[in-house]
Amino acid sequence: MDPLRAVHLGPRKKRPKQMGTSAASTLHDIRFQDLVLFILEKKMGSTRRAFLMDLARRKGFRVENELSDSVTHIVAENNSGTDVLEWLQEQNIKATSELELLDISWLIECMGAGKPVEMTGKHQLLVRGSSPSPIPVSEMKTPPLAVRKISQYACQRRTTLNNCNHIFTDAFEILAENYEFRENEGSCLAFMRAASVLKSLPFPVISMKDTEGIPCLGDKVKCVIEGIIEDGESSEVKAVLNDERYKSFKLFTSVFGVGLKTAEKWFRMGFRTLSTIKSDETLKFTRMQKAGFLYYEDLVSCVNRVEAEAVSVLVQEAVAHFLPDALVTMTGGFRRGKMIGHDVDFLITSPGAAEEEEQQLLHQVTNLWKQKELLLYCDHIESTFEKFKLPSRKVDALDHFQKCFLILKLPHQRVDTDRSSQHEGKGWKAIRVDLVMCPYERRAFALLGWTGSRQFERDLRRYATHERKMMLDNHALYDKTKANSPALPRRMFLEAESEEEIFAHLGLDYIEPQERNA
Ligand code: CTP
Ligand code: MN
Ligand code: MN
Repeated sequence: MDPLRAVHLGPRKKRPKQMGTSAASTLHDIRFQDLVLFILEKKMGSTRRAFLMDLARRKGFRVENELSDSVTHIVAENNSGTDVLEWLQEQNIKATSELELLDISWLIECMGAGKPVEMTGKHQLLVRGSSPSPIPVSEMKTPPLAVRKISQYACQRRTTLNNCNHIFTDAFEILAENYEFRENEGSCLAFMRAASVLKSLPFPVISMKDTEGIPCLGDKVKCVIEGIIEDGESSEVKAVLNDERYKSFKLFTSVFGVGLKTAEKWFRMGFRTLSTIKSDETLKFTRMQKAGFLYYEDLVSCVNRVEAEAVSVLVQEAVAHFLPDALVTMTGGFRRGKMIGHDVDFLITSPGAAEEEEQQLLHQVTNLWKQKELLLYCDHIESTFEKFKLPSRKVDALDHFQKCFLILKLPHQRVDTDRSSQHEGKGWKAIRVDLVMCPYERRAFALLGWTGSRQFERDLRRYATHERKMMLDNHALYDKTKANSPALPRRMFLEAESEEEIFAHLGLDYIEPQERNA
């Protein structure tokens, strides 16, 4: 019997509950008229097929129950093109050249995008030779439920920016933020970890079965996943997005210099908009908040890569003016390959500088920019670094290097090499910049610490502590297992010239910066 009939036409009691109704195709508006899909049940199973058909229909796709002449796209899973052709032959159907034979990955990407995505070579099923033959095992695709063990630590996972679980991770991040605003640290962390682990998956989660064996997914998290699989959205997230407190905190903390405490205060005072806060004469603002309001529009618009590169040139030029041998490295999100960021981070170090010169550099650089009228805000933090200070036990501890938090004026002509292009307005953009200066022998630790992501850093430290009995922070790696030996305390500090060496000390496979987007 055609299993489809069991689902859509058969006795009602046999129908799995989430599969929609027998008239599913007529219940949803068809948004994409040019495509007529047919999903092959072979090797996929009837339950999964029915789920996918329902999902696609909800997204506005026309999906046929049975194969007919009107079908334009056949979607299959774990089948080669040859398999599909073989099946078509068995049905006495001749495939025409117009008929697209596609892998399930195409449909899944369409579901993620909410519209048909371009069909590329990786989606199109290959037909080998002229006569149908069974696919060799080596060509069989790994099913989503691969029995590969996923680590609970982000530093043992490779997380690129190709997140195929946006639908879930966006939801988790909103929930985590809401818990943060409500100072519920445990739940905040649980949703951040869940988001982080789903970002590392090479496949999109489309059924609860896909979540089996994945760490960091507690009951609360699974509940949200289930809601999204069934309804395409989470009712909890919807409620948070409409929540007065969440909306206000989100808005208030978008101002540079406004943290949870200030947001809480303003919320309790009854403020709901930035304009009423700005114009209130009884409120006192810090220097940072004043700058935050003054350059609000520029700062919320985020920094793109072209702007980050232009800032990089500005920093390189200024640093080289005072310390020609200094090394300037862009760190943070841009080093991980992100195309936008909320700021641009730089690590500066010099192999030849004397301590005094090292201490002076950031001041000299900011003074130079001040003279050139490029400095809009500047906050210097002096170094509290000590050679033999033990690494911090806290996963979120601030580091001890000398640094400055800045807002720079980036002239448009430094971004546009095409001088003829016209710009309206003030001719520059305010950009948040972080500069960190570190002793040359600590550059590997500082670089690793300032490259992020925050979740990746947290898990590196957690891993060092719990799995290796070591302590890691932005300055050093300390081996506690050597603490009982008669060696001098300094022997317990493990030195490193590069990030690779730190991973090696920790017994971890090296993870490239682009794979640290946990
Ligand atoms: N960091 C740190 N100490 C701080 C601030 C940041 O160690 N006081 C590290 C964090 O580990 C973080 C990295 O520096 O991952 C960069 O911080 P930040 O600019 O806040 O985050 P990005 O990852 O660069 O993200 P964005 O693109 O939003 O700037
Ligand atoms: Mn950054
Ligand atoms: Mn930063």
